[in-house]
Amino acid sequence: MSKNEVKDKMDALVKELNQHTYDYYVLAMPTIADYEFDRKLAALNKLEQQYPEYADPNSPTQQVGGDITKNFTTVAHKWPMLSLGNTYNEQDLRDFDERVRKAIGDQFQYVCELKFDGVSISLTYEDQKLLRAVTRGDGTKGDDVTTNVKTIRNIPHKLSSGTIPSLFEIRGEILMHRAAFERLNKEREELGEVTYANPRNFAAGTVKMQDSREVAKRPLDCFLYYFNTDKSPFKTHWESLETLKSWGFHVSEHSRLGNTIEEVLEFISYWEKERFNLSYDIDGIVIKVNSYAQQAELGFTAKSPRWAISYKYKAQEVETILERVTYQVGRTGAVTPVANLKPVLLAGTTVKRATLHNANEIERLDLHEGDSVFVEKGGEIIPKIINVNLDKRENGAVKIIYPTQCPECGTTLIRKEGEVAYYCPNDEACPPQIVGKIQHFIGRKAMDIDGLGDETIETCYQHGLLKHISDLYVLHQRTEELKAIDRFGERSIENMLKGIESSKQMPFAKVLFGLGIRYVGETVARKLAVATKNIDTLATASLETLTAIDEIGQRIAESIIEYFAKPEHIQQIELLKSYGLQFESDEKEIELQSDKLTGKTFVISGVFENYSREELKEIIELNGGKILSSISAKLNFLVAGDNMGPSKLEKAKKLNIPLISQDELLALLNN
Ligand code: IVH
Repeated sequence: MSKNEVKDKMDALVKELNQHTYDYYVLAMPTIADYEFDRKLAALNKLEQQYPEYADPNSPTQQVGGDITKNFTTVAHKWPMLSLGNTYNEQDLRDFDERVRKAIGDQFQYVCELKFDGVSISLTYEDQKLLRAVTRGDGTKGDDVTTNVKTIRNIPHKLSSGTIPSLFEIRGEILMHRAAFERLNKEREELGEVTYANPRNFAAGTVKMQDSREVAKRPLDCFLYYFNTDKSPFKTHWESLETLKSWGFHVSEHSRLGNTIEEVLEFISYWEKERFNLSYDIDGIVIKVNSYAQQAELGFTAKSPRWAISYKYKAQEVETILERVTYQVGRTGAVTPVANLKPVLLAGTTVKRATLHNANEIERLDLHEGDSVFVEKGGEIIPKIINVNLDKRENGAVKIIYPTQCPECGTTLIRKEGEVAYYCPNDEACPPQIVGKIQHFIGRKAMDIDGLGDETIETCYQHGLLKHISDLYVLHQRTEELKAIDRFGERSIENMLKGIESSKQMPFAKVLFGLGIRYVGETVARKLAVATKNIDTLATASLETLTAIDEIGQRIAESIIEYFAKPEHIQQIELLKSYGLQFESDEKEIELQSDKLTGKTFVISGVFENYSREELKEIIELNGGKILSSISAKLNFLVAGDNMGPSKLEKAKKLNIPLISQDELLALLNN
């Protein structure tokens, strides 16, 4: 084949495969057999490795997540998705146990499981392949969200081992871990986007997104807990769970067999406290009769199975006194109200404060000084005020009014159109804004300066040593003043100055993020750094130039222009430049968008010294590599950190998969 013919062939394959992907994922009407599709995909992949210069960056071999789904198709459930009866106390459970024993006698076991607080999903597998993922909907029919669900890393697309029924359904719960929820929600808040109230809403919103590429960026997990097929190969639910695990499904490790209702109650009381130590939310416990024969004997009511029931934990709620409302001013000037409470014990911790979000929330609750309020602790770390006990409100209690002036510097607050938060516009002289900006600059995701913490910044500010970011880089000229500060030892000053000095090597993208331009989060900063290559181009870019950059919309572009229009910002940047900070993208940063890893697959496991697993994953994906969810013969590299699980290691060795370190991975990129 001539080079031209190769290119034509590759283009034709891309086009054909894209059409099939669309038919399959979006229309759910495949026109070729799956193995035929896989064969063509493999052929394209091979050509792309041989002729990387002709590889289309949007080739279907590179696709994480599929196409944009305009409307979800409604699909009828083969087996209706019933709900479970709820119980809230021990007596209800004992009654359930009584009913079960009346029907099937005393010889049976229960399976006790966590009740995951997420979005339920039904997965259908045919000929060992994931055919469809459907939401619960109204129980008889739901939305086909296959394209989105396929981006969830631990849902297998294909099964390989064992004797597997040719058609089966498996149900589970899609959820987001609390840490991911808090991180992503914070990012949304920083970018001025609407935040989600809890991980369940975030997961639900994600599963129903229009663009599966967006879904692929949000870390979702899925626990599977129920197996259905026409002629089950299993005798018990427990056996099904064990086997599902061996087929590669994510099954909870916390399920237990219970012989009596007493053992079930023990399980419930154990998790009542322990649930706060899980990395995700559960809202109760589910108990199921283990034997399938006994389940069949018990049967179903119109709404739910008679062989299973859920026990819901009560929301942890207490009543206490609202002592006063204080206002926190953040680095962007946003003024957030905080409820200061009479300390009270809730879910094992003493609660003194609760978030009030914004002025609207104070209005909604109609808060008055000294009110008796109900405080709830959900999955989130910060408790919330649910409502006010009006019976206890004193006559003449003073209504709480959100201030019109900044509580820190007295400047009149402003509210931008379409936003709920009020801002203090005095960004140059309002103390918490000054301190917050410097704290953001030194933070882990920005300049990551060793030997410096938030408190040190605060202290230095109070001693007149820091007022601007640039002051950090002249601190070494003021060691005598530093030494004079209480608690500042010589060693720690030395470390701090060393950390500041080496931060001059941090890449442009990090510096740019550190500047704290509104709506310029980590990812946006990286995109801008790569696209504009240096700060001067960025600072003088027009609205059109900025919005032409991938993922930069009108709002971000306007914020950038507004930032660089202020002479004091330009002055700061000039100073930082003169101290030697990076304001140009170096080679490495641009290479971050290479296709050096195209066609290569990776599994990341263990803990790494300089990067989180998430960061390594991003590096790999930005360079064209693909992350696989488990180790199999088709894996190219296992990126191994410390404390890797022994079973993974063993499997990789057995399959002769090369183990590489973090440095070896980076070397692949710099080659
Ligand atoms: S079993 C026929 N097991 O709770 C049995 N459900 O209130 C089907 N859920 O719709 C459900 N964790 O979304 C089962 N370990 C678990 C569960 C669980 C959470 C959800 C599920 C279901 C709802 C019922």
